[in-house]
Amino acid sequence: MRMYDLIIKKRNGKVLSKDEIDYIVKSYTQGEIPDYQMSAFLMAVYFQGMNERETTDLTLAMAKSGDLLNLSEIHGVKVDKHSTGGIGDKTTLIIGPMLASLEIPVAKMSGRGLGFTGGTIDKLESIPGFRTALSREEFIRNVNELHIAIAGQTANLAPADKKIYALRDVTGTVEQASLIASSIMSKKLASGADVIVLDVKTGSGAFMKTEEAAEDLARRMVSIGKLSGRKVTAVLTDMNEPLGQMVGNSLEVQEAIQVLRGEGDVRLNEVVYTLAAYMILGAGAADSYEQAKTKLIDVIRSGKALHRFAAFVERQGGDPDYILGKKSFAKARYIEPVFPERDGYLADCKAEEIGHAVLILGGGRETKESVIDHNVGIQICNHLGDTVHAGTPFAYIHGNSPDQVEEAKQCIRQAYTISEEKPSPKPVVKKIIE
Ligand code: URA
Repeated sequence: MRMYDLIIKKRNGKVLSKDEIDYIVKSYTQGEIPDYQMSAFLMAVYFQGMNERETTDLTLAMAKSGDLLNLSEIHGVKVDKHSTGGIGDKTTLIIGPMLASLEIPVAKMSGRGLGFTGGTIDKLESIPGFRTALSREEFIRNVNELHIAIAGQTANLAPADKKIYALRDVTGTVEQASLIASSIMSKKLASGADVIVLDVKTGSGAFMKTEEAAEDLARRMVSIGKLSGRKVTAVLTDMNEPLGQMVGNSLEVQEAIQVLRGEGDVRLNEVVYTLAAYMILGAGAADSYEQAKTKLIDVIRSGKALHRFAAFVERQGGDPDYILGKKSFAKARYIEPVFPERDGYLADCKAEEIGHAVLILGGGRETKESVIDHNVGIQICNHLGDTVHAGTPFAYIHGNSPDQVEEAKQCIRQAYTISEEKPSPKPVVKKIIE
């Protein structure tokens, strides 16, 4: 087989066989196909696309390029969730303990943040003492005993995707639905869960800016799951503004604790309950969506979910007193209000800019080597559609340097459009694709 012929074949819009896709993935990962040929191939895929079967073959080839996590020693149906990335998304921190307190095993590999989106691992590491590097044995033992473990992704999870993604990132070939779907699903399949619930974000702070594009991506991922024997449900959710009120690592953990106490932001609660209910249904632990929701309400009201979060934090080396309110998280040196420029309605938000403001404050990663300041971030007090007044703050900046706080303030002001007309409300959960 020659890579040259396969580039031409895809360039001309032909369908590749499984053997051809396996050859490309294997040879590129092993360094036998040079970057310039792989770049040309990716650009051919960008324009010609891949059908469902090709996309599934690409996913499986990338999943098999490294370790396949064997979770068979974990009792019960293993459930996992994945978000396509957004601003202020702390749902894993809440859903994990909710499901664990219902004895549904959550065995989760999570990533770090890069660019304007945050990562669950960084958020968890803002809890003093918390460890995310777990051995396989420890990971499995924790899931069997506590029904929850969350660890950082191992270096050898879908290494082909890692190499191909890095190349896509610099060759203008990221935004292609088959490539995104196979990239995400290769890591999910390699992580070994039986049931996967995908939170596919759409809007200004998401990868997929339109609902149509998000739905197309969701359908591809559900189809890959089906063709590879996993149960996958996708929930399309709005990312035209941050999810919840807090953006920034420690602030997001504190907001997650609020929800686990039965309080917190309405839109955040809605996304949490929807995703968690579909995970329960996927695990076969409820007969209907309503029954799943009732179970979730019970573990919040009884305090079981909050206590499970504390137990999970303690098991991974963290101090549970921060979760149970006996100790307070460190605060940033400056907490500065942001005032709207005039009275009106919050009409539009460039959500990416909020993530960008957190980066300015030092709470995100510009490069893989960046060191994160866990205590900085942004609190947004209002949702799109709310009335705001020039004399009342609609946001607060938590920062450790006056210059950064000032720059972040400008960023937040520019992110929002204020109008005289009330915009029509946008539901946060848009569609379920099964
Ligand atoms: N996230 C991934 O893991 N891969 C993509 O291609 C896009 C988002």
